[in-house]
This record gives sequence, structure tokens and C-alpha cells, in this order.
Amino acid sequence: MQDQFGRTIEYLRLSVTDRCNLRCRYCMPEEGVTGLSHSDVLRYEEMLRVAAAACRLGIRKVRVTGGEPLVRRGIVNFIAQLAALPEKPEITLTTNGMLLAEQAEALKAAGLSRVNVSLDTMRPERFKEITLRSGLEQVLAGIEAAEKVGLLPIKLNVIPFVDFNDDEIVDFARLTLEHPWDVRFIEFMPISSDLDYASRDGLSMDAVEARLRTTLGALVALPYQRTSGPAHMYRLPGAKGRIGLIPSVSGHFCGDCNRLRVMADGRVRGCLFDNHETDLKSILRDGGDDQALEDLLLAAACAKPEKHQINGKDFTTPNRRMHGIGG
Ligand code: GTP
Ligand code: 5AD
Ligand code: SF4
Repeated sequence: MQDQFGRTIEYLRLSVTDRCNLRCRYCMPEEGVTGLSHSDVLRYEEMLRVAAAACRLGIRKVRVTGGEPLVRRGIVNFIAQLAALPEKPEITLTTNGMLLAEQAEALKAAGLSRVNVSLDTMRPERFKEITLRSGLEQVLAGIEAAEKVGLLPIKLNVIPFVDFNDDEIVDFARLTLEHPWDVRFIEFMPISSDLDYASRDGLSMDAVEARLRTTLGALVALPYQRTSGPAHMYRLPGAKGRIGLIPSVSGHFCGDCNRLRVMADGRVRGCLFDNHETDLKSILRDGGDDQALEDLLLAAACAKPEKHQINGKDFTTPNRRMHGIGG
């Protein structure tokens, strides 16, 4: 599957719910979301049909996202069905880790290959401040369980904010000395812009790199690998794990973008920042055949914009929050 700019689309992000058991202040309103109604959300059989069509078109990796995907009932069985598709796509999951300890073993057995865990702080009081819930211990137990069952490599996603957790950047980086994890710092993007927290400043990846070099000294840049996605990878000398910097705002990795996003309500988005969406639900529910589904997915891939305009003067923020798009 190729888009009009010659990019090969082989990575599907599939959001199975817009709900979440945390309330990260940059992503969700404190009162939660009324959310999509039950009938708005695709059933697993419908999602499986979409994923199957996408795999026939060349998707090789399916990342299950949310909201928080592990809050949706039946998720383990759904992952087993995805993993059993004839093309045997790699199945990955992005999670906040809260329910990972109890589900890691079953997820691995279902055929999940690895997990990315979002974690912005390792201090319990700050965890509560940013997520409005307690649960740091639970997340850490989830990471440990994922490691134990072999959901590897584990990637941690950290969004550094000025005057919130920027004093933990070095602590997070140091985790890679002892653990074979990818600790990835992400530039905060202008999504969920209706929330109070949206006015906070995220650190640029240049600033993160400068801090790491000042405090930790040598930081060895690793050669680019496609498996690193948008992250520039580094290693501290002798470290077991790696450090990733994702310049989602300051750098354009759009030229290499290989993603298509399907959201829980059956709409497809070609780019995080492009409000143009293609609806699959009517085809799925009105008796459309697989060819019609493939045609729509192809059209959605083809309509991917060349690049985001975050830094441009005409930029408008997406009309969905991050928990609705799925990251
Ligand atoms: P890997 O398969 O491990 O490479 O995962 P991933 O990095 O694709 O997925 P993850 O869900 O961990 O996303 C990491 C972060 O990358 C997201 O939170 C975003 O901040 C950023 N990101 C993901 N997709 C895009 C995109 O299309 N555009 C931009 N600008 N940033 C993105
Ligand atoms: N900018 C960058 N990353 C974000 N995430 C959520 N909101 C934003 C944002 N505004 C991250 C989460 C998670 C990933 C899927 O998206 O931390 O790791
Ligand atoms: Fe939930 Fe992830 Fe949003 Fe936090 S960032 S509220 S964990 S969907």
C-alpha cells in the first residue's frame, strides 16, 4: 500500500477504546469523557475485518492503542485473533501499564510481541499529580511482569515538561544502565489543546540531549534502524538499554511516515493532525464486501497529507484528543 508521496504504509495503529483508567492532564479532562457510545465503537469482529483487510494490503505491524487498550474486555482474545491473521503481522501494544501485571502472561501467550509503556514520572506524588490517580507501583509491577514474560524490548515513553518532571530526565536515562529497555523521550505535541495542561511547555529533544550530555557525559548515537520508528537512538557507555529521542514537533519524520490510524469508532485518519477521516463503519454495517473495505483503506492511505503543519502559521489543532486518536 503506497500513498501519493511514494511512502509505503505498513504500520496500522488500531485504537480499541477512547476510554482510560488514568486522567493524564495533557490528554484527558479530569471528569473523564462521556466517550463513544457502545454502538459507536466497532465490535472486535469488525475490527478484525479491518485489520485483515489492512494486512492483505501490506500492513506488517499492528499496534493496539487506546485510550487504554487493556480496559476493554476481551482484549487478550482479540490480540490472539490479530496474531493469527494469515500474514502473521507483528502485534504490539501501547499501554499506561496499570493493568499490565495481571495481563502480561496472557497477552504474551496470545501472541503479543512487545509493549510500549507510557510513564512520565517515577515519583508517586508526581504520578498522582499528572494522572490524577494513584498507581505508580502498579505500573512498575506491570513493566516487571512484561519483562518476565518476554514482551521485549520494553519501551518506556516519557514526555518531559518544564517544571514538572524535567529533573527526572537523567533518572529515566539511568534506568538504561541496569535494564535492557528503550527509554524514549517525546516532545509534547499540541493535541488535546482544550485542556488546561496544554499550555505547559514540553522540552525540545535538543534540550533533553543537552541535559543528558551535561550530566552523563558520553552519549553514543546509534545508527538509524527502521525498527526505531521516529526515535533517534543513543546508548550510554556500557548500558544494557537505549535512550530514544522523538522530536515529534521540532523534527519532521513525516517523510518516512508508514502509519495509518483506525480509531475505535471505525474512522481512519491518515495523520495525527489531519482532521480528514474516512468512515469504515457504514461499509462494515451495511453489508459492504471486503473489496469495498480494502478500497476505502487504500483511499485513506492515499489521502495521507505530506506532512504535519505544527510549526506553520495555518496550523489548527486536531478535533479529537489524544485518547481518541490513539497516539
Ligand atoms: P514503535 O513501534 O515501538 O516504534 O512504536 P511507536 O513509537 O510508533 O508508538 P508509540 O505508541 O509508543 O508512540 C510514541 C510516540 O511517537 C507517540 O506518543 C507520539 O508522540 C509520537 N508519534 C507517533 N506517531 C506519530 C506521528 O504520526 N506523528 C508525530 N508527529 N508523532 C508521532
Ligand atoms: N504529545 C506527545 N505525546 C503524547 N502522548 C499523549 N499525549 C501526547 C502529546 N500531546 C503519548 C503518551 C503515550 C503515547 C501513545 O502518546 O505518553 O506514550
Ligand atoms: Fe490515558 Fe494515555 Fe491519555 Fe494518559 S496519555 S490519559 S494513559 S490515554
